[in-house]
Amino acid sequence: MQRVLQTILENIHAFQKIIFSDYLPNASYKKIVLRLVQGKEHVYIQAEQFTQKQVFHVNFDCNQAQEYVHKVVPFYKQVVLFLCGQTISFHILPNGKIKKHIQNNTCENVVPSLHNRNKTYLLQEGENIPALRDLGVFTADNKIVKSMYDKYKQINKFVEMVDETLKKEDLTHITMLDFGCGKSYLTFILYYYFTVKRNISVHIIGYDIKRDVVEHCNKVAQTYGYKNLRFEVSDVSKDTLSEEHIDMVVSLHACNTATDYALHYAIMKKVPYIFSVPCCQHEINESIQKGGDFDIFLKHGLFKERFSALLTDAVRAEILKAMGYAVDVIEFVDLAHSPKNVMLRAKKVHASNTTMLLPIKELLGKYGVQQTLLQLLEKENI
Ligand SMILES: C[S@@+](CC[C@H](N)C(=O)[O-])C[C@H]1O[C@@H](n2cnc3c(N)ncnc32)[C@H](O)[C@@H]1O
Repeated sequence: MQRVLQTILENIHAFQKIIFSDYLPNASYKKIVLRLVQGKEHVYIQAEQFTQKQVFHVNFDCNQAQEYVHKVVPFYKQVVLFLCGQTISFHILPNGKIKKHIQNNTCENVVPSLHNRNKTYLLQEGENIPALRDLGVFTADNKIVKSMYDKYKQINKFVEMVDETLKKEDLTHITMLDFGCGKSYLTFILYYYFTVKRNISVHIIGYDIKRDVVEHCNKVAQTYGYKNLRFEVSDVSKDTLSEEHIDMVVSLHACNTATDYALHYAIMKKVPYIFSVPCCQHEINESIQKGGDFDIFLKHGLFKERFSALLTDAVRAEILKAMGYAVDVIEFVDLAHSPKNVMLRAKKVHASNTTMLLPIKELLGKYGVQQTLLQLLEKENI
């Protein structure tokens, strides 16, 4: 039963229809069908509950649907999940064993607003988050601005990743740097998340090279009375950065090698937590030359560009490991929402082991590759 429940809950954000049938004598309904329904404002989950003669409808949000599923699963011997691309059937046999069958489907009847559904985000639509309103992500009545939906998803996912890591830790205060903060949607939201959602006092500095955005962000921070949030004009590749103790470094789409400077700073200061979503990984693409087994990727511009971007982030992940970090490489948001969708999430867990850098150096040397993070560490004699 647990397996059935688990499969349903894992897909509660992405199912098309779930049918509970072949009921036990003490079930309230002989059949239940769960569906996604597009309401005026958002998508909700509807249960169609069949008795012998009647059908009763009840609507749920995602959390309520999860509770409902927990309650009803034990009363049915047949559960079929229609997902987009796959139909998974569970049949509970008389001996209690479960027979599972998976069949491909063509995913024709996709709920039109599947991507616009009311997923249980950490930062919910409708929540009073002034920064999201002022930054144009929410409307005046706290609805998501349509054109900002992808940004809203990105920020939510980023905060979820931070939350997943930090909720296990017993923190009362945290200091954080945001490299290439730009308009600082993420920075403001992290401030809100720590102070309002987690009741953790926070001190954040956002760095960006653009004076106008930094001035604007400082004004917004002052408007909210966010005393411990400030923004500084800084070229992170040149300027001296904070010398305070820092617990966390974040970078969201810090262009090209700006990400390397963020990682370098974190490594040198032994910053415990790093959350970095790189983008515009041009550096390796510009320097890579044919050199061995991977030459096949260098024959066409498109492959070369993608291969170079992957190699860049793979190298960064390996360097972080060598520097004593446990690293997760996470698909940050769906590729359909943004191609810049790889997050490097790292936690400092032990001392560095520089011998682990040798194979990386050898590989990059073979292909004539310049890689800023590695070069920065070499300058430090690491
Ligand atoms: C694509 S934007 C991302 C902004 C923001 N993090 C977000 O995700 O909405 C990249 C930002 O990095 C900044 N940037 C690029 N190179 C930089 C550098 N060397 N020092 C500081 N900021 C830099 C740019 O000015 C820009 O605002």
